[in-house]
Amino acid sequence: MNVYDWIQTDCTELEEAGLLRHLRTVSSPPANTVTIDDNYVVMLGSNNYLGLSTHPSVVSAAASAATVYGVGASGSRLLTGNTELYTTLENTLSDLKRTEASLVFSSGYAANTSIIPVLAGEGDLILSDALNHASIIDGCRLSRATKQIYRHCDVEHLKSLLQESSGFRRRLIITDGVFSMDGDIAPLQDIFQLSKTYDAMLLVDDAHGFGVLGEKGRGTVSHCGLEGEDIIQMGTLSKAVGALGGYVSGSRQLIELLINKARGFIFTTGLPPVVLSAANTAIEIMSSTPSLRKQLLKNAEDMKTILTGIGYTILPTQTQIIPVILGDTQRATEIAEALITEDVYAPAIRPPAVPEGTSRLRVTAMATHTDLDIQVAENGFAKVWKQLYEK
Ligand SMILES: Cc1ncc(COP(=O)(O)O)c(C=O)c1O
Repeated sequence: MNVYDWIQTDCTELEEAGLLRHLRTVSSPPANTVTIDDNYVVMLGSNNYLGLSTHPSVVSAAASAATVYGVGASGSRLLTGNTELYTTLENTLSDLKRTEASLVFSSGYAANTSIIPVLAGEGDLILSDALNHASIIDGCRLSRATKQIYRHCDVEHLKSLLQESSGFRRRLIITDGVFSMDGDIAPLQDIFQLSKTYDAMLLVDDAHGFGVLGEKGRGTVSHCGLEGEDIIQMGTLSKAVGALGGYVSGSRQLIELLINKARGFIFTTGLPPVVLSAANTAIEIMSSTPSLRKQLLKNAEDMKTILTGIGYTILPTQTQIIPVILGDTQRATEIAEALITEDVYAPAIRPPAVPEGTSRLRVTAMATHTDLDIQVAENGFAKVWKQLYEK
């Protein structure tokens, strides 16, 4: 066998399991409607929840930054790439999160894989929710700490693991704030209380809550009535903010430690100024426009009513993420393809992104969806239901 035979074997295995993914090409801005592989569709799979990626003020801020600063950062932040736009962004994040300090990374993925190994290492215990994002899982692997998985949002299970954890040097609890594939909200009040009782650190990944939940879009921690230095809040600028980058907010000392030890911060180039400027303007709009969040959550409620009315099974979710459970991998792919022919794009999500047997469509609302978009979505989902289930 040569190397390409091995690769062929791996691809065939994925194909036979219905898990071979292909890239689709988007040839329009990431708005409420897009052109994807030459199909003009209503977009029901975007993380650009508030529509800020295409907001005229955000686009104009990015264009101006290109004129002033050029396009690349030229080096890592510790050497030459720490443009002044970072200072504004990190101060704004700390104000919103009500923490002493914040640090921006190149992406949410880079943030999680960098922060976790700084917080925990050999001899420590990480307690991680069963449905935490892949970047958390990878961060845990890199940390070399012992990892124990608690059942999804099961506070009693978490408590029982903490009760047995006295032999470890440090304990770190990690949870998504809003779960990326299920759309439900972690019971943060209870988890925070446990972290206090058992002297554990708590890291909340708020990729999908930031900009959506809480006053000014502060996120899940604030939505759950918590705040302050005792919770390490991580998030991303690539979803509701509509740009790119990850961040962590917490105490000043935490940030100092990360600047010195987080490998995904130290050994990579800073973000392009264009992105930082876009993020600064987007956060300004996000935090001062409550109507965007209101419209997003209203559109999500409308979509939930429509989908359940047709007969689809959705998981209980309080957010803009609506998991339409189909179970079988092939069926999820089939339905996603059939929807495209009805001018609707709702991506199929399959293992390993979700547990075996829970393949789904991940439908996401946007604040910028119009009544017409929602009508097109309703017609498409209804027609596909008839074709597949009422034959
Ligand atoms: C919960 C969660 N954390 C982290 C990330 C990674 O963020 P980014 O896309 O900015 O790398 C994602 C992205 O999907 C996510 O859903």
